[in-house]
Amino acid sequence: MARTVKLAYGTSALLVTYVLVNVGLHHYNDHVALTDQANASLVERGRQAAEACTACHYLDQKANFIGPHLVALLGRSVASVVQYEYSPAMRAHQGSWSAERLAQFLTNPQATVPGTKMAVQGWSPEEVQALVAYFKSKD
Ligand code: HEC
Repeated sequence: MARTVKLAYGTSALLVTYVLVNVGLHHYNDHVALTDQANASLVERGRQAAEACTACHYLDQKANFIGPHLVALLGRSVASVVQYEYSPAMRAHQGSWSAERLAQFLTNPQATVPGTKMAVQGWSPEEVQALVAYFKSKD
């Protein structure tokens, strides 16, 4: 009798574990799928917003324009494009372009790098988030 009860407990414990793991996995997969989709549309919005950058920057070829090219921007050292004449302010900014530093710069270029030659107002938090997602996805 005690044995049957133990077995019953054991079996239901297994069943409960199985159900929990499966429900958990489903949730996880749904979440990942949604996140991928949300990220894809964020990247697409960023790609559109980055059209504004092309007034002054090449995004896909290593050629300088009014500003330096933005190929492989994330992780790149600040003010490191050869043959581009950076402002002293940008040369003094140091380090490299992380997602966080890029977001800060794009939100308010003049406040982040006082004296920068990048004469733009800056972008909204939503646009900045999309732009950073785009640059992350790009190269
Ligand atoms: C009106 C022209 C103009 C527009 C529009 C513009 N930029 Fe710039 N950008 C510049 C100039 C000029 C510099 C060089 C700044 C300096 O030396 O102070 C620069 C520099 C930068 C740098 C520093 C690059 C490095 O090599 O360290 C980044 C990053 C950057 N721009 C990103 C962007 C992005 C992203 C956009 C669009 C969302 C954009 N810029 C739009 C003119 C512009």
